[in-house]
Amino acid sequence: MTRLHNFCAGPAAMPTAVLERAREEMLDYRGQGLSVMEMSHRSPTFEAIAAQAERDLRDLLAIPDNYRVLFMQGGATLQFACVPLNLLGPGGTPNYLDTGIWSAKAIKEANHLAGAHIAGSTQGNGYVHVPRPDEIALSTDAAYLHYCHNETIGGLAYDYVPEVDVPLVCDMSSSILSAPLDVSRYGVIYAGAQKNIGPAGITVVIVRDDLLERALPQTPSLLGWKVYADNDSMINTPPTYAWYLAGLVFQWLKQDVGGLAEMEAINRRKCEALYAAIDASDFYANPIDPTNRSIMNVPFTLADEALNSTFLEEAESEGLLNLKGHRSVGGMRASLYNAVSEADVQALTTFMRDFERRRG
Ligand SMILES: Cc1ncc(COP(=O)(O)O)c(C=O)c1O
Repeated sequence: MTRLHNFCAGPAAMPTAVLERAREEMLDYRGQGLSVMEMSHRSPTFEAIAAQAERDLRDLLAIPDNYRVLFMQGGATLQFACVPLNLLGPGGTPNYLDTGIWSAKAIKEANHLAGAHIAGSTQGNGYVHVPRPDEIALSTDAAYLHYCHNETIGGLAYDYVPEVDVPLVCDMSSSILSAPLDVSRYGVIYAGAQKNIGPAGITVVIVRDDLLERALPQTPSLLGWKVYADNDSMINTPPTYAWYLAGLVFQWLKQDVGGLAEMEAINRRKCEALYAAIDASDFYANPIDPTNRSIMNVPFTLADEALNSTFLEEAESEGLLNLKGHRSVGGMRASLYNAVSEADVQALTTFMRDFERRRG
């Protein structure tokens, strides 16, 4: 068996130890005589799996008691609609920061319900940095401020948490669990699973409990956070196997990695090695202002675009997979999520130097 170097932006690499554990437990989960994917979500065994996953996530992120953790479906994209549906009940204007493609998608969804106010945007300079605190201007009747902590496609991340006196709502799909986090600064945090949490199919929503009463009356039951909070996220059949795998990832982070501070240190070493390789050469380039470079997603271009397909073909033959940039921007992108190891990054930087020497 060979596991190659997987730099996919999502669904992303999973920790090998998690897949091995899932394999061991696949046919007969701990003497129960059946697989987790075959058991009732209302069985005591699955309820214990679900509760343990929540406890481990709470431990990892030190989630305060006045926050609820919801396990939903529909990905982060469905949360683009859930955010205004669940927060605009008392009225007010949805406020958004615009830093690229994922924030734009969230804004588009809010516009279906109410005109969104753009409280800050760096579109004018090509999204190479995020709005500075003094460039954020909320509307007078702001209901909340939404931002995307890490723009997965642009490779752009906030280096600070905006301070506002309305609930702060954050799309952390591509950065959650990459480093410790002060949950108490936020009203709502949400993230699709398929980067740092587990396989696609489950979405984590962390919501302060006083915000559960603000849904618009027309909110469909399955899109209402309160319904999930009141039913332990089991209003209907949840994605049980994805939930179980997410739980294994949380245990891996706690036990094998040693927590999020340790994970952050590893992640920083990984991205610094790659940015150093890019910056040391005139052949590779990354346009993002160094203070806002993502630690998870590193886009880069080749000086000669005509070499893009050769780069990708040769990389793949070296076992370096999924380096093609997003179709909307081209170039390359290496996603360095938690399960991507320092050895994976080293294999990439070695290849990049070699490619430049031969083709540059
Ligand atoms: C930052 C960010 N937000 C939202 C999404 C959409 O997630 P999903 O495909 O789970 O709906 C993605 C997907 O890559 C993302 O990176």
